[in-house]
Amino acid sequence: MMAEKLDGKQVAAEIREEVGEQVKQFVASGAPAPCLAAVLVGEDPASQVYVRNKARACEKAGIEGRTHRLPADAGQKQLLELVNQLNADPTVNGILVQLPLPSGQDYDEREILDAVDPLKDVDAFSPVNVGLLMQGRPRFLPCTPHGIVQLLHRAKISCSGKKVCVVGRSDIVGKPMAMMLAQKSGSCGPDVANATVTLAHSRTADLAATCRDADILIAAVGRPEMITADMIKPGAVVIDVGINRVGDKLVGDVDYAGACEVASAITPVPGGVGPLTIAMLLHNTLMAAKLQSAS
Ligand code: GUN
Repeated sequence: MMAEKLDGKQVAAEIREEVGEQVKQFVASGAPAPCLAAVLVGEDPASQVYVRNKARACEKAGIEGRTHRLPADAGQKQLLELVNQLNADPTVNGILVQLPLPSGQDYDEREILDAVDPLKDVDAFSPVNVGLLMQGRPRFLPCTPHGIVQLLHRAKISCSGKKVCVVGRSDIVGKPMAMMLAQKSGSCGPDVANATVTLAHSRTADLAATCRDADILIAAVGRPEMITADMIKPGAVVIDVGINRVGDKLVGDVDYAGACEVASAITPVPGGVGPLTIAMLLHNTLMAAKLQSAS
């Protein structure tokens, strides 16, 4: 079997186009262009690339992207003050604090994310938005899992009644992904929901057998090529969320070449899930602007 490549880059381009059209209509109705404020603390090269890409994507969609930079040693108090200033600024619709915060500087990440106004929380990291998602009445959906739902929907891959295994229990991807696919209905209707979900992690006994039982396998662990072909059920759909730098190459959490021999469809790295995260961030920023203009 040679797996079909699920082209996240193409789907992300479609979504960005759609958001761009909706932004045009919103602005034509007399509203100001939506505005996303990104906060970048320190000089982490990967974070700088992400924030630059976000700013560019905003611009192309007609969204104003502002980047606020603080030195790595700015400290908790100054970062909190900036978040509160952005909360109070009526011209800012969405706030994103780029993670991870610099290590060795004593930042309390939880306190910072808790401080973001839930109506401007386009990452959907605030406890209010996580709680609403858990209860099946989400306001904002977290960008990476929402991108995966969109990708499955547009590739006409149903999850309903299927066994889905999510590997990795992070707050950003694994936990919300599991929750979204287990709901009765999601942003793309009941077909990309209603799954029987297993949330596997580092203490899962016989991880290989657990993965091999899944019709849809979602790898979000951050370990280069740890999911090998023998861990994949023949004909399964494989979604690879990992972006790991190995030497000068980017590789996923899945051994791509091996998995292609077994899976029916798979996302590549790069060009799979990654581009969808930014597309859904634009979607959330427009949604935030609409929510705020209605309140
Ligand atoms: N760092 C890696 N992914 C993300 C994300 O989705 N949002 C933020 N704020 N930081 C990240």
